[in-house]
Amino acid sequence: MQAFRASLFDFIDDPYTSSGQSYRYFKDGLLIVEDGLVTSCGEYSALENTLPENTEIVDYSGYLIMPGFIDTHLHYPQTDIIASHGAQLLDWLERYTFPTEKRFSDPSIARETAEFFVQELLRNGTTSAMVFATVHAQSVDAIFNAASKQNMRLISGKVMMDRHAPEYLCDTPESSYDDSMNLINKWHNHGRLLYAVTPRFAPTSSEQQLKVAQQLVNEFPDVYLQSHVAENPGEVEWVSKLFPWSRSYLDVYDHFGLLGNRSVYAHCIYLDETDRDCLARSGTAVSFCPTSNLFLGSGLFDMKSTLEHGLRLSIGTDVGGGTSFSMLKTLHEAYKVNQMKGFNMSPFQAIYMATLGGAKSLYLDDKLGNFEVGKEADFIVVDKNATPLMKRRMEHAENLEDELFALMILGDDRNIKATHIMGECCYERT
Ligand code: GUN
Ligand code: ZN
Repeated sequence: MQAFRASLFDFIDDPYTSSGQSYRYFKDGLLIVEDGLVTSCGEYSALENTLPENTEIVDYSGYLIMPGFIDTHLHYPQTDIIASHGAQLLDWLERYTFPTEKRFSDPSIARETAEFFVQELLRNGTTSAMVFATVHAQSVDAIFNAASKQNMRLISGKVMMDRHAPEYLCDTPESSYDDSMNLINKWHNHGRLLYAVTPRFAPTSSEQQLKVAQQLVNEFPDVYLQSHVAENPGEVEWVSKLFPWSRSYLDVYDHFGLLGNRSVYAHCIYLDETDRDCLARSGTAVSFCPTSNLFLGSGLFDMKSTLEHGLRLSIGTDVGGGTSFSMLKTLHEAYKVNQMKGFNMSPFQAIYMATLGGAKSLYLDDKLGNFEVGKEADFIVVDKNATPLMKRRMEHAENLEDELFALMILGDDRNIKATHIMGECCYERT
């Protein structure tokens, strides 16, 4: 049994749809964990005397404990090309992404990068993520091995792409089926790990390969599916030429049965009402990737419309098209994108998306996302006063909402004092 004393904050409902209060806040709180799962969360004064005698209380007084961040879209092999200058999506893929992903045919490069990547997630307070690997099966082994050393709940999969990419990165419909199936059998539900069928995006898969992806999700109904959609105008135009029969870009995936529960699509910028209805009806989740969308000049995501359609919405850093591993920085950019669209995103809505909303998008809200009894105790210890400016600003905060807003606008990895996975501390800022 473990007990942690601090201010505690989590969500019990979606602030957008909730009629009452969607969050819980205990200024002097106690979080109790047994065998890695939450057993209680509440006021310190009410819970302290329920602890068995001699239980050591880890004292994080003065800090804020909240659920770990859930990043629903990023690419571990792109760690080394983060912040690469001067290109939009399709050129950026050719110039930076494909050459760096080629290196992952070398298992030692994959292993070393995956280890670094997992450390970087933890340093930024991200405890779960949905992650692209490369086309190489061993790149998936590398990221799952690195995550499993930390006992992280992580979802990943082998990229499927059989056209419109350099030959050295192309698989075939048959090899992508065989490799994906072997990886599912090896890794899906291995500890906390989960597998995602991963067609890169419609332009790099033949229709035959999209059918193979469909076959995989049909044969293994509880695996995930991750891909990109409607990110960039040049890409949207290309898809309309490659699939002239399609009503829209999203319609290509719908046609091949690739929407549904446990499907997660990054970007979703160039959608219309029919597309959003289709996402809602099918239970497909959307990953909003603001730093990437701004950095690659892709466009401004319409969050208001996404909420109005009742879609499952979460946040992705999309490293290396995205420019930061920090979910706080990513929420900051999300706020600015919404400002440009005339929508004032509340800090509650933002942090919900990065925690319980992320869990809901991944259909893992029975296991992750808040401190309800029985949930997996993945949490972070936040230092709101990590810099002189942050400390000064917090002294002028009017209430909790204002504090959280200042945290997400000024915050980054410096605010993450510690990260705990299933109760165990796996990162502490020195
Ligand atoms: N679309 C297809 N591949 C990619 C990728 O690696 N990054 C982003 N941002 N978009 C993509
Ligand atoms: Zn991406």
